[in-house]
Amino acid sequence: MSDTVTIIDNKTGKQIECPVLYGTYGPPVIDTKSLYNELGMFTFDPGYLTTASCRSAITYLDGEKGILMHRGYPIEQLAEQSTYLEVCYLLLYGELPTREQYDGFRADLNKRNLVHEHLERFYTGYLYDAHPMAIMVGITGALSSYYHEALDINDPVDRDITAKRVIAKMPILAAHCYKHAMGHPFVYSRDDLGYVQNFLNMMFSLPNRAYVPNPTAIRALDLLMILHADHEQNASTSTVRLSGSAEANPFACIAAGIVTLWGRAHGGANEAVLRMLTEIKDPKNIPQYIAKAKDKDDPFRLMGFGHRVYKNYDPRATIIRKACHDLIDELNTVHQPLFEIAMQLEEIALKDDYFIERKLYPNVDFYSGIILKALGIPTSMYTVMFALARSAGWIAQWMEMMTDPDFRIGRPRQLYIGTEKRDYVPMEKRSQRHD
Ligand code: CMC
Repeated sequence: MSDTVTIIDNKTGKQIECPVLYGTYGPPVIDTKSLYNELGMFTFDPGYLTTASCRSAITYLDGEKGILMHRGYPIEQLAEQSTYLEVCYLLLYGELPTREQYDGFRADLNKRNLVHEHLERFYTGYLYDAHPMAIMVGITGALSSYYHEALDINDPVDRDITAKRVIAKMPILAAHCYKHAMGHPFVYSRDDLGYVQNFLNMMFSLPNRAYVPNPTAIRALDLLMILHADHEQNASTSTVRLSGSAEANPFACIAAGIVTLWGRAHGGANEAVLRMLTEIKDPKNIPQYIAKAKDKDDPFRLMGFGHRVYKNYDPRATIIRKACHDLIDELNTVHQPLFEIAMQLEEIALKDDYFIERKLYPNVDFYSGIILKALGIPTSMYTVMFALARSAGWIAQWMEMMTDPDFRIGRPRQLYIGTEKRDYVPMEKRSQRHD
C-alpha cells in the first residue's frame, strides 16, 4: 500500500507527493499541508465534508456501520454498564477510573460545585421568559470573568482544574436557568448526592417541598447524558476547538460551543422534534408532514432525522428508543401519544424512497425529548440538557488540543469570488446600479 498520494497540477505539470496518514480506524487521511507551498493551491471543502481537522484519541464513529466508541469502548457497553461521571473521567483521562480514582474525581468535583454568589445577579438581567439557551450562553461566558487572570492555560494543573470546574458547575448553571424561569429560589449543590440526582434536586426541590428522587428517572437521565457526552468533531466541538486554538479563555470557549449547539441543525433539534411531534398532534397528520419534508420549495425538514456522518441508524437513537419503551413501562408520566406519533413517523419515513435514497435515519435528538418530557423537564430546557452533557466532551477535546504537537491557531482559507480591484468613488459620483 502506497503511503503517499500524488497530486498533479495538469496546467503546469508540477506534482507533489502528499503523505497518507493512518489512524486506528476510519479512512486514511491525506496530509495536504505542503500543497500551498509546493503548488500554491488550497483545498476546497465547504462544510468540511471530507476534512479531518485534527488528530484525536477520544471518540471514534463510523457513520456507515453506525458505530460509536469513546476511548475504544462501544457506546452500547457504556450506556448499559457505566455512569455519566465515569464517562466524563474516561473522556478526560483516557481510561475508566478505578474505585480510588473515581472517588478522588468526585471529591475534586465536590470541591468545585458552588458558583460565586454574585453570578445570581447575571440571571436577574434576563427576562423570566428568556430562552434558557440564551441565558446559558451569557452565564457560561460570565464564568470566564471569575477564572481569567489567575488561569494559565499552558499549565496542565490549571487545565485539569478548569475541566473539573466545568463539569462541576455546568449543572448549577443549567438548573438555575430553570429556577429563574420559574421564579423559584436557586438551590445549592449537595455533596451527598450523585451527579444526576444532585442536578434533579437543584431543578425540582423547593423550600416548601423536597424533591423525591425516582431511581428510574435518575438512571434515564444518566443514560441520556452518557449518550450526549461527546461526538467527535461536530459543529459545537469544532467551535470550542477553534476558539481554544486562539488561546481564548476556556469558559468562553464552552460558551461559544453552546452558541453553536443551540442551532436547529445541531443540538437545537431536540427541542424542535418535540415541537414538531406536538404540532403533528395525530398520527393521521404524519403523511402531510412527510410531504412537507420532501417538498424542495418548503424549508421544513423532519426534525431528528438525518446526520452528516451517520448514513445508518444513529446508535444513540437505538439506545434512546429502547429507553423510551422502558420508561413507558416503569413511569406513568411518559407522554405516550407523542411516543406513538414518533414511532409511526419513523416507520413511515424509513419506508419512504426519499429517506431511503438519502440514507436519512432518526438521530440522537429524535427520541431524547420524549425522555426529557417524561422527566418533567420543560421543552425549552432540552438543548440546555444537551449542553450540560456535552460540556464534558467539549472540555476533554479542548484539553487534548492544548497538548497536541500540531497545536496552532485554526485559520481556514477561502476561494475569493468577489469583485476585482477597483478605485474608490466619492459618494456624489456613485450610481444607483446596485439597488
Ligand atoms: N428532512 C428532510 N430532508 C432532509 C433532512 C431532513 N431532516 N435531512 C437531510 N435532508 C435531505 C436534504 O434536503 C438533502 O436532499 P437533496 O440531496 O435532495 O438536496 C439531503 O437530504 C442531504 O442533506 P444535507 O443537508 O446535505 O445533509 P447535511 O449532512 O449537510 O445535514 C443535518 C445534516 C443533520 C443538518 C440534516 O440532516 C438536518 O437538517 N436534519 C434535521 C435536523 C436534525 O435533526 N439535527 C440533529 C442532528 S444530530 C444531533 C446533533 O448534531 O446535535
